[in-house]
Amino acid sequence: MKAIVAVDEKWGIGKNNDLLFSIPEDMKFFRQTTSNKVVVMGANTLRSFPNGNPLKNRINVVLSTTLNRDDCIIVRTVDDLLKEIKKYPAENVYVVGGAKLYKTLLPYCESVLVTKVFANGNAEVFFENLDNLEGWKCVDESEQLESNGYLFKFTTYKNFNVKNF
Ligand SMILES: NC(=O)c1ccc[n+]([C@@H]2O[C@H](COP(=O)([O-])OP(=O)(O)OC[C@H]3O[C@@H](n4cnc5c(N)ncnc54)[C@H](OP(=O)(O)O)[C@@H]3O)[C@@H](O)[C@H]2O)c1
Repeated sequence: MKAIVAVDEKWGIGKNNDLLFSIPEDMKFFRQTTSNKVVVMGANTLRSFPNGNPLKNRINVVLSTTLNRDDCIIVRTVDDLLKEIKKYPAENVYVVGGAKLYKTLLPYCESVLVTKVFANGNAEVFFENLDNLEGWKCVDESEQLESNGYLFKFTTYKNFNVKNF
């Protein structure tokens, strides 16, 4: 499986249970990458979507000990989450946040698609700094792009020590 995330220059990813920036070109990349795939998230990330609704045209798997709903697949434990994910081809599974779930599932991810935004979003929650994490390496980087006044790059980090499950 992979993760997909947008980070600021400090690897910040969110505040007030919302994203740091609104970048249409990154949203488009997210939609195109994850459409018709399986998206895996924590309860707060589901709550952060418009009207708290699951993402359209995707299988939404949510880790939550508290939520009860039938418009997405709810799993109660990390073990059950990993069992659920195993039902799908690994290349179709994307971890989409938030901070807690990224941290929990990062060792199992073979790569992370990181949109790097060159700005300080004054984040409250963060992604692991993959430049400092053993076993991870940046293997691809786009040119610098601009959207909605923000400068950013699409990058790919690879995990050279993927944990099996
Ligand atoms: N920049 C980006 O690309 C990006 C992407 C996604 C999200 N975000 C941001 O990230 C923030 C939300 O992150 P978050 O860390 O607060 O929330 P989160 O990871 O989305 O959800 C955490 C919740 O998931 C449930 N959970 C249960 N067991 C868990 C376990 N073992 N590990 C992890 N989660 C478990 C818990 O809910 P229960 O209490 O129901 O059990 C927990 O409170 C928001 O600001 C959001 O906008 C940013």
